[in-house]
Amino acid sequence: MAARWLLLLLLGLVGGGSVFNVHGQVDNLGFISIDCGLPESAAGYIDNATKISYASDAVFTDAGTNHNLSAEYMSAPMGKSWYTVRSFTSAAGERNCYTLGSLVVGLKYLIRAKFKYGNYDGLNRPPIFDLHVGINYWQTVNISDADTPEIYEIITVVPDDYVQVCLVNTGAGTPFISSLDLRPLKNKLYPQADGSQGLVLVARANFGAGDTTLVRYPDDPHDRIWMPYNKPKWSVISTTRNVQNVDKDLFEAPSALMQTAITPINSSSPIDFTWDAQSTTNDPVPGYVCILYIAELQHLPNNVTRQFYVTLNGKLWYAETHGAYTPQYLYTNAIYNPKPDYASHQYNISLDATDNSTLPPIINAAEIYSVISTTRIATRAQEIPAISTIRDKYQVKKNWMGDPCMPNNFAWKGLRCSYAVSSPPIIIGLNLSSSGLSGNISSSFASLKGLQYLDLSGNNLTGSIPDALSQLSSLKLLDLTGNQLSGSIPSGLLRRTQDESLTLRYGNNTNLCSNGNSCQPPKKTSSSMVAVYVAIPIFLVLMVVLLAVLLLCMRRRKQGTTTNSVRPQNEAINNNGHTSLRLENRRFTYNELEAITNGFQRVVGRGGFGKVYDGFLEDGTQVAVKLRSESSNQGVQEFLAEAQTLAKIHHKNLVSLFGYCKEREYMALVYEYMSEGALDEHLRGRENSRRTLTWRQRLLIAMESAQGLEYLHKGCNPPLIHRDVKTSNILLNAKLEAKIADFGLLKAFNNDCDTHVSTARVIGTPGYLDPEYNATFQLTNKSDVFSFGVVLLEIVTGKPPLLNNPESMSIIHWTRQRLARGNIEDVVDTRMHDDHDVNGVWKVADTALKCTAQAAEQRPSMTEVVALLHECLELEAAHNHMNAGFYTAGSGGNADGYSGYDTGMSTDVSQSSSAFEMEYLGRVPTMSTGPAVR
Ligand SMILES: *[C@@H]1O[C@H](CO)[C@@H](O)[C@H](O)[C@H]1NC(C)=O
Ligand SMILES: *[C@@H]1O[C@H](CO)[C@@H](O)[C@H](O)[C@H]1NC(C)=O
Ligand SMILES: *[C@@H]1O[C@H](CO)[C@@H](O)[C@H](O)[C@H]1NC(C)=O
Ligand SMILES: *[C@@H]1O[C@H](CO)[C@@H](O)[C@H](O)[C@H]1NC(C)=O
Ligand SMILES: *[C@@H]1O[C@H](CO)[C@@H](O)[C@H](O)[C@H]1NC(C)=O
Ligand SMILES: *[C@@H]1O[C@H](CO)[C@@H](O)[C@H](O)[C@H]1NC(C)=O
Repeated sequence: MAARWLLLLLLGLVGGGSVFNVHGQVDNLGFISIDCGLPESAAGYIDNATKISYASDAVFTDAGTNHNLSAEYMSAPMGKSWYTVRSFTSAAGERNCYTLGSLVVGLKYLIRAKFKYGNYDGLNRPPIFDLHVGINYWQTVNISDADTPEIYEIITVVPDDYVQVCLVNTGAGTPFISSLDLRPLKNKLYPQADGSQGLVLVARANFGAGDTTLVRYPDDPHDRIWMPYNKPKWSVISTTRNVQNVDKDLFEAPSALMQTAITPINSSSPIDFTWDAQSTTNDPVPGYVCILYIAELQHLPNNVTRQFYVTLNGKLWYAETHGAYTPQYLYTNAIYNPKPDYASHQYNISLDATDNSTLPPIINAAEIYSVISTTRIATRAQEIPAISTIRDKYQVKKNWMGDPCMPNNFAWKGLRCSYAVSSPPIIIGLNLSSSGLSGNISSSFASLKGLQYLDLSGNNLTGSIPDALSQLSSLKLLDLTGNQLSGSIPSGLLRRTQDESLTLRYGNNTNLCSNGNSCQPPKKTSSSMVAVYVAIPIFLVLMVVLLAVLLLCMRRRKQGTTTNSVRPQNEAINNNGHTSLRLENRRFTYNELEAITNGFQRVVGRGGFGKVYDGFLEDGTQVAVKLRSESSNQGVQEFLAEAQTLAKIHHKNLVSLFGYCKEREYMALVYEYMSEGALDEHLRGRENSRRTLTWRQRLLIAMESAQGLEYLHKGCNPPLIHRDVKTSNILLNAKLEAKIADFGLLKAFNNDCDTHVSTARVIGTPGYLDPEYNATFQLTNKSDVFSFGVVLLEIVTGKPPLLNNPESMSIIHWTRQRLARGNIEDVVDTRMHDDHDVNGVWKVADTALKCTAQAAEQRPSMTEVVALLHECLELEAAHNHMNAGFYTAGSGGNADGYSGYDTGMSTDVSQSSSAFEMEYLGRVPTMSTGPAVR
């Protein structure tokens, strides 16, 4: 329900007057098929070739204008969807979007955009522009000439229940589009497309197909368009028998596609083809994924074999049966790379017969994709409905299309966004002055919780000022000058102005305060547009502030001197002049600790440092008291370092310190109590076999601890390195919130110029140690990233960092070995009982492996890790959403609604249109003898 409401808002339908049934967007196959430029008044129609119904694009976008192609380009036989285009002149803003709704969060879709210029504008100037999918760059559309149709396709996981396809003017001509298709895919298909990367089609070839045979819907239920592809040096093998998919097929190649294949005429030559890597400004070294579809079409007698090697750039691809591959009779096998390859220049695929083989190699079809990253984080979801309501209510005609804040160079005009490192962007400023707004002030402004500045001056706003605006706790400036507002200033806003947290301007509103209560319209200043403060005894306030500042300074000085003796010899911290940031920590006496812990009665933990006791402060707050034992191997220095540091840093994901004790030989730290103990106990159920953490709980814990570390690395000045990140140093409170503990080994960087700190000896815990640090003694914050990678692997697998079964092996090695086989379920902690999103688990495992890269510079920063984990959480949320019982439409729906058409008829009509689309092929898979694909 909420989702549908949001969609309506996004489509600009609320208040817009037109009523539109959102479910009408998707047909009974789950397809969306849009003929761009078809007038809104025109009825939808059924495409002759595919029997798919197409609709006008009017409800999917509210910008752009319709055009017919020039007459001279209309003569070629082509499907109706090519006849018209919609174009977007820059007056409408640089980015113009189509919003496709009724989707399912976290599902995978194939999106196809088609373009034929056809000199629709009479300028004879084919444009170049960019395509975005949501907030991510998809591809640059480069229209080569007026006649050639261009097809661009992407397979992507959709993070919301809608997806936007945006055309972006890059200064090289006016963007336009002919048609737009969306097809749902089962999530298991194309596993290389996940929440973090999309697959952009480079080529899709049907080997051995007749030159006018276009395999697509209904032959392919997923409506991929398979282009025929042949070479004189190949001969064709074909069958009329059904070619089946294997169990757990990840690509579901249709039988019609597989019924033809090619083999080299010269039986001793290989089949090979190459393509060049195409760098883009967004990605200088894009990755590639290639999928080869192979099925034996001839029934072979016993004394005949067909066996070959499949190599990519000389590297063997298929490793079973001595590295050689034998196709299965009438069964489709796909040979593919599960992870993109990043060879920098050229890719070469070769199928070579083995010495034993009596027949040459064979191939039926192939697909090549390049990979784009889809890891940008969109504007905080809660803001979208509010800002969309505002846009629609006031009919704002700026460039308000697509995501409000992302990418930041396309943020909506008049919006100011804040881009925090690890969380989605939020709207902090909104300038709608002199924008011709009329009507009352929308209560939706109050839903933009991060708003600091709101300028509505110089409009025609009427009605009263909503008190809800006073709930915007960050709001610093509210400008309502020059409207026709009436009534009085609400009391909440008055209070905010009185405590000076808000500046309110409301001059030139003739009807405001006419009833003369609480506020006083300042007759004199109204025309000079000055901020109107409600009278406050400024002098008095000043005095109080001064006094407070004075007191604070005196106190800090005093602290500085009295605590000198407790200061550790930690130069980095000491010399940095940050002692002034010191927050007051309580200093306990030993007697007090005895009272707090009731005579050190209950031990809740043990470390190298000594024992940790349960206790209660006088006010009843439960605490943990870490008492240094005589035999402790944590030195006095380390103890003091921890006390010193913890006193200064405060973050919700770092265990906080209430105070410390340093009395004679006794040293102790008093922490907040973390009732659920350390993470390792939960993962390995050591003690009282606690209940198993769910995947979602694990993800949250990973995210929270990552945030704690990120704060140490980025939020502290000087930046800090923890040096002992491990699961036993991640503590959980009663709500299972994770906090990093044990700062005894913490090290500080002096300043930004230092890239590392040299240490005299390597300290840390085996299994978590950064190999580079181990080798060079040079410590960087990437050492923490390495250890955190190990923590992530423990979270995914439930295994300890060092395995002994059967031989001793690190968890990193163990996981890499298994993941290389492409099966994530091999490594996932079985105690999670499959209750997880596979894509999300892959992603966490992948993040962990990045973190544990040998070379420190290849590891991501904690900020990047936080962002990646954030996406995993979104995938998991989507997974839960899906488990609530969706996904029936579209995917399996091959028969519904189609069975009425007989094949004879549909192939017949498809001839004309396919002959036309064939021209597209001319530009695409120019394979084999070596020429590059695109
Ligand atoms: C396109 O052509 C049709 C007739 O074929 C005409 O009715 C329509 O007005 C034209 N549209 C534009 C935008 O010129
Ligand atoms: C589609 O088929 C109908 C009926 O056969 C025909 O009248 C129409 O012109 C065809 N449209 C296209 C675009 O080929
Ligand atoms: C396989 O056996 C048949 C007869 O049994 C023979 O005609 C044929 O030449 C043999 N083929 C090969 C490749 O040995
Ligand atoms: C070729 O055949 C021989 C003998 O049958 C066998 O030992 C060898 O493994 C085969 N080679 C391949 C690549 O299958
Ligand atoms: C406000 O509305 C009035 C009448 O509708 C119009 O004359 C005036 O120009 C408007 N003012 C602004 C600032 O839009
Ligand atoms: C208030 O209105 C007067 C007269 O219309 C105008 O001269 C003045 O600039 C306005 N002040 C503001 C702050 O809009």
